[in-house]
Amino acid sequence: MIDNFIYSTPTELIFGKDVVNGLPEVMKRFGKNVLMTYGGGSIKKSGLYDKVIELLKDFTIIELSGIEPNPKYDPSVITGAKLCKENDIDVILSVGGGSVLDCSKAISVCAKYDGEGWDLISGKVKAEAALPIVDILTLAATGSEYDCGCVISYTAINDKRGYMDPLMFPAVSFLDPQYTFSVSKWQTACGTADAINHVLEQFFSSPHSLFNDGIMVSALRSLMVNVKIALDDPTNYAARSELMYVCSWGCNGILANGAGYSGWPMHSIEHALSAYFDITHGAGLAIITPRWMKKILSEKTVERFVVLGKELFGLDASLSDFEMANKVIDEFYAFFESIGIPMHLSELGVKADKIEEMADHILANDNTNEPWMYVPLNKEALIDILTASM
Ligand code: NZQ
Ligand code: ZN
Repeated sequence: MIDNFIYSTPTELIFGKDVVNGLPEVMKRFGKNVLMTYGGGSIKKSGLYDKVIELLKDFTIIELSGIEPNPKYDPSVITGAKLCKENDIDVILSVGGGSVLDCSKAISVCAKYDGEGWDLISGKVKAEAALPIVDILTLAATGSEYDCGCVISYTAINDKRGYMDPLMFPAVSFLDPQYTFSVSKWQTACGTADAINHVLEQFFSSPHSLFNDGIMVSALRSLMVNVKIALDDPTNYAARSELMYVCSWGCNGILANGAGYSGWPMHSIEHALSAYFDITHGAGLAIITPRWMKKILSEKTVERFVVLGKELFGLDASLSDFEMANKVIDEFYAFFESIGIPMHLSELGVKADKIEEMADHILANDNTNEPWMYVPLNKEALIDILTASM
């Protein structure tokens, strides 16, 4: 069934080879003063930095560089907001992966707010305005280029928050798959694992529909097939372009219009892991996924696994529902392992003595035990999932 829903994504996607040449025309819509944000240097190596500077030679560009993966409120968001205020910035141009874009989104609202920016990000105060954002995406993963969310870490308080506000939809996202050719095998695998998880967070919900299931199974199939091609042949345009397009659908709701809301429990768990141990988001999710699946497998959820078993993995239809569900879990584990993700948190530096504290943190920040969750997770369940993932 398709339940009531409202769907709106105002972002303009400009997709394909060499589309970045159209950047000046787009930027003119917003004004002359640009805050250009980027990360640790991948855009300088790829030549994109020089290209953007040349294309925008008639604009005034202020730069914020060094934005880290798992972008930090202090210093990046604070510094970016200050630069916007001091330089009368009209528009933010994010050039990089999801972390640079998420940081830019947080800057866009903090730049229009006079109080402590963390009050907005932590949901204490509602933002009233934001600077427009244009982005050039260089890594297929988060879907941030087509959604209104950002995820920001505040190291001093071990916090990593997902923050959403329609004010933060990018105005325009430039997606040229050629800029993802240089993404490392590790980030290609982790980015795809993130996108796979976005689909699963929406697939495991109730109610659901044949139509949504079809889109989601197709998204999973495309991600799982194309990541293998991209890992073997990083400049394969067909594979990189499909990964980029499918990833963009991850988090703006389009995959699950009219379906139930699961509560995104694996993301709640992973955000705590990244907050405490600064691990790569997609790797954390890949490790948690099969353990979370084992924990929630029940009479209520088994039907979801059966659809994946039949439609995605083509498993033997004569298996019992629970046999099929367990095989689906094994398939995901083997798949993540096959793309190079170490399947134990200890291999990423996570320490078991923090598990209980992280479980408390997850419940305090993102109550995964709410009765409306698809499968509520109390402290004991969270500890079980984290322990099994070690
Ligand atoms: O910093 P640079 O030098 O640019 O290097 C980056 C970074 O080291 C590198 N990279 C990016 N593009 C590249 C490249 N290297 C070579 N060639 C290129 N073309 O890759 C590294 C990782 O980049 P990052 O932006 O951190 O990766 P990703 O796009 O996966 O973003 C992860 C962040 O997004 C959040 C995650 O929690 C994490 O903080 N998420 C955001 C969401 C959203 N806004 O909707 C949803 C997601 O669930 C996720 O939580
Ligand atoms: Zn994610």
